[in-house]
Amino acid sequence: MSVTVFAPATVANVACGFDSLGFAIDAPGDRVTVRKSTTPGLRITTITGDNGKLPLDPRKNTAGVSALALLEKLGETSGVEMEIHKQMPLGSGLGSSSASSAASVLAVNKLLGSPFTREELLIFAMEGEKAACGVAHADNAAPSLLGGFILIRSYNPLDIVRLPHPDELWCSVIHPHVEILTEDARNVLRRRVRLEDAVVQWSNLGGLIAGLFQSDYELIGRSLNDIIFEPVRSLLIPGFEIMKSEAMKAGALGCSISGSGPSVFALCRGETSARRVAQSMLEGLQNAGLQGDIFVSQINSRGARVEE
Ligand code: HSE
Repeated sequence: MSVTVFAPATVANVACGFDSLGFAIDAPGDRVTVRKSTTPGLRITTITGDNGKLPLDPRKNTAGVSALALLEKLGETSGVEMEIHKQMPLGSGLGSSSASSAASVLAVNKLLGSPFTREELLIFAMEGEKAACGVAHADNAAPSLLGGFILIRSYNPLDIVRLPHPDELWCSVIHPHVEILTEDARNVLRRRVRLEDAVVQWSNLGGLIAGLFQSDYELIGRSLNDIIFEPVRSLLIPGFEIMKSEAMKAGALGCSISGSGPSVFALCRGETSARRVAQSMLEGLQNAGLQGDIFVSQINSRGARVEE
């Protein structure tokens, strides 16, 4: 018996919700296949799509670390073989490590007869994040596993809240062809925040969440502002200012960095607007002499899915 799971890419932070808000998109994403084996322990047999960058050693691989946390919690010692098919760029700001971890824990859980709920699987996927960047942040792993917009209301104890979103909300993502490691993008952040800035940031987060509940696209747009992290991190992203200004000129509700970058996302009302915005952002990037990929998607409400 084998189980294959696809887990989607995610946009973390969503401008004003650093480490506390994220949502899933339809594509890209990663696939993980697991099967039982007669050799005890977890073995990663194959990794594709990583240009040879990821380790096969499960203790050094985010999908492996997540699966081992799950297996150890169960006291499970029987053999499991894992294949990882990376179908999204590493270091892209699209939650690449989380997608692998989410796919890994959902697949292993299913293989073992689903002893855990999806919500319970999150802490194992977060172990993978810790291995990847040193911090067990959940704003990619939670939406990749559960779908939709997820608020991490508290890390200790872990308290996650599923949020609604309006039907016509679409996302345009542009991934410029540079790699930024989350760990590096966290190291450039200031450790102290001015009280006046904190007030602006948490007011925007409140506004964004109210906008999601009320299907108020204008309020969502007005709230998509990050005055604390974007000014610092955007310096690492070539072409950021032009992409953002092109997105806004083309009618985006708002635009900011996806996770720790370099991808940039815009939220839009409707598919037509989202496609126009994505194209304008890409042209802006190309005019600055850079290349990138675009992904246009509705908000993915389903999260990781078993394909079998
Ligand atoms: N919240 C995390 C960060 C997301 O911004 O560092 C990483 O994708």
